[in-house]
Amino acid sequence: MFDENGRIVGSNEQLEDLQTENTIRPRWFKDYIGQDKVKEKLGIFIKSSLARNEPLDHVLLQGPPGLGKTTLAAIIANELGVNLRVTSGPAIERPSDLASILTNLSHGDVLFIDEIHRINRSVEEILYSAMEDFALDIIVGKGPNAQSIRIDLEKFTLVGATTRSGMLSAPLRDRFGVLLSLNLYNNKDLSTIVKRSANILDIEIDDEGAYEIARRSRGTPRIANRLLKRVRDFAIVKADSRIDLETSKKGLELLEIDPMGLDNMDKKIIMTMYENFNGGPVGVDTIAASTGVENVTIEDVYEPYLLQIGFISRTPRGRILTKKVYDYYGLKMEDDK
Ligand code: ADE
Repeated sequence: MFDENGRIVGSNEQLEDLQTENTIRPRWFKDYIGQDKVKEKLGIFIKSSLARNEPLDHVLLQGPPGLGKTTLAAIIANELGVNLRVTSGPAIERPSDLASILTNLSHGDVLFIDEIHRINRSVEEILYSAMEDFALDIIVGKGPNAQSIRIDLEKFTLVGATTRSGMLSAPLRDRFGVLLSLNLYNNKDLSTIVKRSANILDIEIDDEGAYEIARRSRGTPRIANRLLKRVRDFAIVKADSRIDLETSKKGLELLEIDPMGLDNMDKKIIMTMYENFNGGPVGVDTIAASTGVENVTIEDVYEPYLLQIGFISRTPRGRILTKKVYDYYGLKMEDDK
């Protein structure tokens, strides 16, 4: 952003990212890459619901952040030909907030609640009858004059998203008819996503350039798309607006992205395991206490990727560092220390 004298007065980069984010997001299953099992199952349930002319059963999506849970909810609504309403657990503060959302839904609409595990108790209780009976039981008044009134709702589909279904209370989890887990993407699928996004952003990219971005994206499309936009900036200014392997590498080096996509927190977790616990086995709670990272964050955000690339592994006695990570950081095995 520039003022009237041409000085830079701010950045609209975030706004631009938000806008392109919407154009990059696939809107239909045919454009959604990877997660084949999830797509296949949802495709069948959606077709059946359309054939029966009834709303789709409630769907719970679980998986690490950035894998496209919101995107999937939007695709579900599109494929069903209904409206989508998006909110999140922490945003629904009072039962009345939820009541006003629910009473405004039309028949068959999809209500997406992100981070549904963070919904508060009083709101959660209202959700039970809404999900099960499509009705709201509301207490009006106080003391001896308090009355319970029932408001009927249009039938709707709740799509809930959580980083882990274990964080949901059993009564809430049990009210979902469809439970689906999203996994981290492999590099091949991520490359395809990067090429598709590059095409939409109108920037030229070759296979190797796309693979280099994919490899450093921690199995996560949100990260891949973000890195692509920054490498695009680099390519426009420094490399003829084309992304090949060299441009990709140089751009990612400038951004200080590690060749495996690891960040400082991954490194801290690994180094803590190495320095304080001889590479394990060590329990997640102990790692959490030593690094200051919450144990759920370790399990939901950091560990899935470190497990996927084979840098740590799980044993009955705790997590251990593998030979691969010793090689990567040039660490000494205990015997040679
Ligand atoms: N953008 C984010 N996730 C995607 C996916 N699974 N397929 C295509 N583009 C995406």
